Amino acid sequence: MNTLMKTRSKILFLFLILLNVVSISMSEPVFYDIFRCKTDSGTFQANSPYKTSLMSALNSLAGETDKHHGFASKFIGNKTDEVHAVALCPGYLKPKDCASCVNNTIPLLLKKCPNQKGAAAWRFKCMVRYTAPVVNNYDLWFVAHEVSDIKAKNVTMLEKALSMLEGDLLRVLYRNDPRAYAFNSLGYGDQRIYMVMQCTPDILSDNCMKCLLHISREKKPCCNGAIAAAMLTPNCYLRYAHADFRIL
Ligand SMILES: *[C@@H]1O[C@H](CO)[C@@H](O)[C@H](O)[C@H]1NC(C)=O
Ligand SMILES: *[C@@H]1O[C@H](CO)[C@@H](O)[C@H](O)[C@H]1NC(C)=O
Ligand SMILES: *[C@@H]1O[C@H](CO)[C@@H](O)[C@H](O)[C@H]1NC(C)=O
Repeated sequence: MNTLMKTRSKILFLFLILLNVVSISMSEPVFYDIFRCKTDSGTFQANSPYKTSLMSALNSLAGETDKHHGFASKFIGNKTDEVHAVALCPGYLKPKDCASCVNNTIPLLLKKCPNQKGAAAWRFKCMVRYTAPVVNNYDLWFVAHEVSDIKAKNVTMLEKALSMLEGDLLRVLYRNDPRAYAFNSLGYGDQRIYMVMQCTPDILSDNCMKCLLHISREKKPCCNGAIAAAMLTPNCYLRYAHADFRIL
């Protein structure tokens, strides 16, 4: 082989590596951080009892997530000063990663919503939310979407695979404790799609199903044909991608 050919094959080799990297990153899930301040929840002052309850609830939240498979729920304070704080991690996440996501998210959320009594954050590995306690924890006060800009080569095939996988996960959740999490993957064509669905365990099973069916319906107009997407609410979520996001 002469030098020119060697150089050419090196360039070809590099090009193939680059192609591979691009196609891997295209199959990855989308990572946005979502922060929502609950505007109808009222506000609190910097040195109010509500702030004291809130800080005390949030400080213990990360440490509690390992007791209930990535879910923590804390009520702190009395009457008007009472706070309900909740954390949720995907059921497949290691307890250590869950606690550290919750811990890292709290200061970001407090910065985004400095004086609202109610607020929520959704990140790739956890959700954190708080409000003054309410009678019914089932409250879809936001539905956030994360959608990849990249469309599947064959949208029909993707949508068919997604609805099969969705049906499968909903059946698993319905048969077992509907508030547990469900994860599965499905091969179609020469691809594989991965999906997770989960509810916060502080809502009734019926509301969990209602929540999942709601986001499942909203997925179509929002994300039709996208290679990766997530639908995130205070009570349930759904995520899919062409990569096994459990190991990311
Ligand atoms: C709640 O009220 C009790 C009794 O009045 C008091 O001892 C306690 O410190 C209060 N807790 C908080 C978090 O304010
Ligand atoms: C969370 O952060 C607090 C204060 O920064 C720290 O004391 C605690 O150990 C952390 N907990 C976890 C589980 O990372
Ligand atoms: C998508 O796949 C289906 C089933 O394999 C096929 O009938 C259809 O022609 C494909 N559409 C496109 C745009 O490739």
